[in-house]
Amino acid sequence: MSDLSRAPRVLVVGGAGYIGSHMVKYLDKKGAEITVLDNLSTGHRDLITAGKFIEGDLGDTELLDSIFEEGNIDVVMHFAASSLVGESVADPLKYYVNNVSRTANLLSAMQHRGIKNFIFSSTAAVYGEPDTLPITETTRTNPTNPYGATKLAVERMLKDCDAGFGLKSICLRYFNACGADESAIIGERHQPETHLIPLVLQVAAGRREHISVFGNDYETKDGTCLRDYIHVNDLAQAHYLAMNELLDGADSSIYNLGNSTGFSVRQVIDQVRLVTNEKINVIDAPRRVGDPAVLVADSAKARQELGWQPQYESLAVMIESAWAWHQRDFSEISENN
Ligand code: UFG
Repeated sequence: MSDLSRAPRVLVVGGAGYIGSHMVKYLDKKGAEITVLDNLSTGHRDLITAGKFIEGDLGDTELLDSIFEEGNIDVVMHFAASSLVGESVADPLKYYVNNVSRTANLLSAMQHRGIKNFIFSSTAAVYGEPDTLPITETTRTNPTNPYGATKLAVERMLKDCDAGFGLKSICLRYFNACGADESAIIGERHQPETHLIPLVLQVAAGRREHISVFGNDYETKDGTCLRDYIHVNDLAQAHYLAMNELLDGADSSIYNLGNSTGFSVRQVIDQVRLVTNEKINVIDAPRRVGDPAVLVADSAKARQELGWQPQYESLAVMIESAWAWHQRDFSEISENN
């Protein structure tokens, strides 16, 4: 627990999104006082299970000032971002505006009110195509798309804000987030969906004809890309620990969050077959531009310094939790929430 003698007051920006909504649920279980800010551009109102909800945008500087004016925020967790790699290549300015400039608005409002604790959702995309594996926090950063570049730009901005006015931040570089809370009340609901596990589960659920495997000639054991999958509640646990570190006066830092095990696209599909007992039609397709062959994290630093202990390390468990969520009847949920 942190040094605060009362429940921490946390602003979760992007708390209606996939990872943000799991964070809100986790914080609620831990007794935190939560405020959620989300513009619902990609998030869903019904994924917010706790706290006070403010519908609004990081472009609204007056709103930001009013949120912090009340003096009731100890720490900000920032999940709101545009996060489609392909889209970022086609429309880079959307990413520089949403991910960099709007984060500057948020930090500026925090500076104005003297709020000094910030937790940032960063990504493995800051590393690009790494020279060495597994990837540690000191591996050279070299993003290969605007999405990764904007996340790295924010990391740099945070470093400058620490030097300039003492903002303390923890940047968490996620590898491949997946899974859903055991309750199956919240889960991954992107529109459009581009991620492997939810797409394969949509095939299993009969909502999609087939899964395309992007590339079968990579230099990996079965020719398909290897990724490091990490359960969304394990990400939430890491944020919670990071928050307590900051509230205890820790210095700014950066951590990788992954399981340090690589699973190939084919292994993921095979595991979905086992979990669901459904037939999965697979089509071999060309490589997707910008996909590195292997992305596997070394997360020893988070384990050692934060005391992070992932609870959902098996791929089967991660997929089972996502499958429970995917089996819900989404027709009951209207487009707008
Ligand atoms: N894949 C397929 N078919 C699909 C979708 C994905 O074969 O229909 C493959 C991809 O080529 C990749 C693997 O499955 O090899 C995983 O792809 P995802 O799209 O699920 O995830 P990424 O590894 O591309 O992306 C993740 C995060 C991004 C982040 C990136 C870091 O979702 O936010 O890691 O490189 F930028």
